[in-house]
Amino acid sequence: MDQYKEEISRVLAPLVLLEQSRVAELLEEPPEPEMGDLAFPCYILASRRKQSPVKVAAELAQSLSGKRGVYWEKAMAQGPYLNFYFDPVVFNQDLLRRIFAEGEDYGKSNRGRGGTVVIDYSSPNICKPFGIGHIRSTVIGHALYLILEAQGYRCIGVNHLGDWGTQFGKMIVAYRRWGDDQQLKEDPVNYLYRLYVRFHREAESEPALEEEARLWFKRLEEGQPEAVDYWKLFRQLSLENYEQIYDLLGIKFDYYHGESHYNDLLDDVIRLVQEKGVATESDGALIVDLEKYGLPPAMLRKKDGATLYLTRDLAAAQYRYNTFNFVKALYVVGAEQKLHFQQMVKILELLGFPWARDCIHIPFGLIRFKEGRMSTREGNMILLEEVLQRSIRLAREIIEEKNPGLKDKESAARAVGLGAVRFGDLSNDRVKDIEFDWDKVLDFTGETAVYIQYAHARICSILRRAGATELTWHDDAADFLTCEEEKKMIKTLAAFPGKIAASAESYRPSILARYLIEVARDFNRFYHSCPVLVDDPELRQARLLLISAVRQVLKNGLALLGIVAPEEM
Ligand code: ARG
Repeated sequence: MDQYKEEISRVLAPLVLLEQSRVAELLEEPPEPEMGDLAFPCYILASRRKQSPVKVAAELAQSLSGKRGVYWEKAMAQGPYLNFYFDPVVFNQDLLRRIFAEGEDYGKSNRGRGGTVVIDYSSPNICKPFGIGHIRSTVIGHALYLILEAQGYRCIGVNHLGDWGTQFGKMIVAYRRWGDDQQLKEDPVNYLYRLYVRFHREAESEPALEEEARLWFKRLEEGQPEAVDYWKLFRQLSLENYEQIYDLLGIKFDYYHGESHYNDLLDDVIRLVQEKGVATESDGALIVDLEKYGLPPAMLRKKDGATLYLTRDLAAAQYRYNTFNFVKALYVVGAEQKLHFQQMVKILELLGFPWARDCIHIPFGLIRFKEGRMSTREGNMILLEEVLQRSIRLAREIIEEKNPGLKDKESAARAVGLGAVRFGDLSNDRVKDIEFDWDKVLDFTGETAVYIQYAHARICSILRRAGATELTWHDDAADFLTCEEEKKMIKTLAAFPGKIAASAESYRPSILARYLIEVARDFNRFYHSCPVLVDDPELRQARLLLISAVRQVLKNGLALLGIVAPEEM
């Protein structure tokens, strides 16, 4: 796009008496294709020229009438805008040549220049179910990882496991009383959770359990070997279970640095807040008064000496900065923890860390599963694993029905099932609550992953039928791609790099997700009105090249959302 702006702003600058770079900045992309490809907003000049913007636009159009450049072919006034139209053949050549040359890299950029972004995501709590909030964190965090990486950042994925805290005292007591090795090994996450629930139930009638649990946690904090062994066992078995889910989703973390990882740094945190006079003792507890900043007080140490979630996050932030020297540290965590992160950032600021402002909470809303189709075991517990398995099962049924002859049904079912869950989440603006409806997320005609995957598979099938799996671009093909649907298709493909950049800048994978629906939709429209496998060999070749470029964009885009695009389905 840059050479287009370059040429147009060079022509326009002397006419509007502005610096060329200023003109380039002012050029906008019009909302509709009929309004051209780049527009200059003439109200900028209205007061200086003492003319209405409409008049200015008309005069400028007049002085450019009959002229053209290499990249643009005409300029026309429309209301207060001067619209430039690109030469479609040159534009198509440039873009398609680029897509073919860059292949899997089309869309990427080096904006991040290797700067490090630490992304804290997924972060489930051991002994508690891998709940709904963690589903969203896992999916959104992973997409951000991939998107930022495609922007040239070095991403570090950290799973901030909830692997420390008083609940481990309770777990140890429960396990010693009622625990069973075999059941623990078979299904650790569910089993630990059941024990945890049981502990609370029994503690109602037997309050001494609570005291016992406190004691065990104290032993754990003191490093008493028996307590530590229990903790290690619970942590290890849970982690193995999480890793199966992450494997299924194709997710890896660079570090499993849970809360316990920072245990040795907590004394330093406490010392620092005291030295800097940021915290005050109150009744033996250590508190940071944040009233001046409109925030409630933050506790960093309880009366009994125990530290808190926030204390560990303060340690973790410093550790991350010192270890990775990040340009940004993202926390992909539900909106309900907004206050926690506001307090964390404020305290880091008060401690004088200039990088505090680079710690960014990426909040998201709730997800609700539409009743009926999702059985919830034991109260409201929804496990990510169950959601994924269910989605794969439903996908398998649909594929079985639609395409019983398909060779590799299992991989297709996985791609579609997992894609449905991811896309059902990612296509919504993350801050909104979402209603997850199985019928909707697996609808082949809706705004779904499978709609996009299906467009991709369809293109693969056309290319296979044409025996055109290895295509090379040649510039002459652009002469044939000039009907409206083709022009629109190509313009949409051109928007891809900008959409990735916009997703990265606002930490919103939904921008990319919605864009991919648009690509699939444009393809379907194009395919509906422009048959590909026509007799004219040149036209046929040109259209095969075009759909091959569409395939590349769909594939690259889905990959950035962590979604697989099967070639057949
Ligand atoms: N384990 C926490 C929870 O489930 C999320 C941790 C998020 N990361 C962080 N650094 N606080 O609520």
